[in-house]
Amino acid sequence: MANKTRVVIIGAGAVGSTTAYTLLLRNRVDELVLIDANQKKAFGDALDMNHGMPFLGGAKLWAGTYEDCADADIIIITAGAAQREGETRVDLLKRNVAIFDSIVTEVTKVNSHGIMLIASNPVDIMSYFSWRKSQWPINRIIGSGTLLDSARFRYLIGDKLGIDPRSVHGHIVGEHGDSELPLWSLANVAGAKLQLSDSDKNEIFENTRDAAYQIISAKGATYYAIALALDRIVTAILRDEGAVLNVSTLLKDYHGISDVFLGVPCIVDRSGVREVMDIQLTDDETELLHRSADKLKGLIESISL
Ligand code: 2OP
Repeated sequence: MANKTRVVIIGAGAVGSTTAYTLLLRNRVDELVLIDANQKKAFGDALDMNHGMPFLGGAKLWAGTYEDCADADIIIITAGAAQREGETRVDLLKRNVAIFDSIVTEVTKVNSHGIMLIASNPVDIMSYFSWRKSQWPINRIIGSGTLLDSARFRYLIGDKLGIDPRSVHGHIVGEHGDSELPLWSLANVAGAKLQLSDSDKNEIFENTRDAAYQIISAKGATYYAIALALDRIVTAILRDEGAVLNVSTLLKDYHGISDVFLGVPCIVDRSGVREVMDIQLTDDETELLHRSADKLKGLIESISL
């Protein structure tokens, strides 16, 4: 058993099961456990994926219980109500706080060493709640933050310029939601500023920010790209990469912002969030980041902790 990597996914909905499948396809872990309040769904997903094992890399996968969190390196939480058409991520807050209250209690009963990776929305607030409830060190609570938004941003910039998105550097920061902002001052290809008009920039940012609404209206849910973003964070942790990823973390005097989880560029390694990157922002970007922080702080005050 020694040194086997174990990831537990709590919530076998579209995001949880797609994340499990992504981790299996990319051969990221030795052991993968699916937990869901609907045990039949977790059982069915595990059975379905296990039938693909002859084609995969040798991982063990099963539908489990909270006891399985004891040996987990990473516990990914995707459980909770999902956004429906016409809802914002914030509309899910009350329902998901109640669900997280019991999940975090169960996880911390059996595990005190792992990393919690939160994906349920509103993700910045669910991460803050999980940190307060678990009392785990800050570095070991990570929200998926604006990693997905930054990927959407890079894809859309690349599409406009005819450049591979992997060669586009760009960051969306702040809330994973309607108050997020693009850091145009840092966006570049090979260190060169982007040749984009203001109207191109507005269109790219609006399509980034509103991507989830567009996808939910088209097919009811988003899950492929978030699964890849979660796989990216898991890999950065398990391989001790020191990768710079826009994840949600607790800020301490970050451009004057404290006591709120927000998506910002962080260095992610085996310890979780090792460090928040010190980046330069323009005055406008700083002001928008403060507005995003203020929105989330107002919401944090509305839930009892
Ligand atoms: C997304 O951005 C809904 O938060 C989810 O795809």
